[in-house]
Amino acid sequence: MSFGHGIHYCIGAPLARLEAAIALQVLLTRLPDMAWARPAEGVIWLPAGITRGPVRLPVTFTPEKGSDVA
Ligand code: HEM
Repeated sequence: MSFGHGIHYCIGAPLARLEAAIALQVLLTRLPDMAWARPAEGVIWLPAGITRGPVRLPVTFTPEKGSDVA
């Protein structure tokens, strides 16, 4: 549904899916203990509009050794 439908269905959908899959795979491989920092019920959503999504999704994780990720 996020990519529309019919004649104007998103032409970049396969690229967007591939990028998301690679990003999530790398993220979860490098930060295996990543977890929500707050309960899901506390998520604040963007005001209704064309784009739906959370305002922010804070997470906790242990930085990799030698990483500059704080
Ligand atoms: C998560 C990423 C993306 C989302 C959620 C998304 C979403 C959408 C949606 C909903 C439409 C339909 C708009 C309508 O019905 O008028 C659309 C169209 C389009 N998208 Fe994406 N898109 C994404 C990524 C991309 C990427 C990476 C590209 C190009 C590399 C791209 C290129 C296009 C183009 C050219 C159209 C117009 C298709 C047409 O009107 O025939 N999109 N996109």
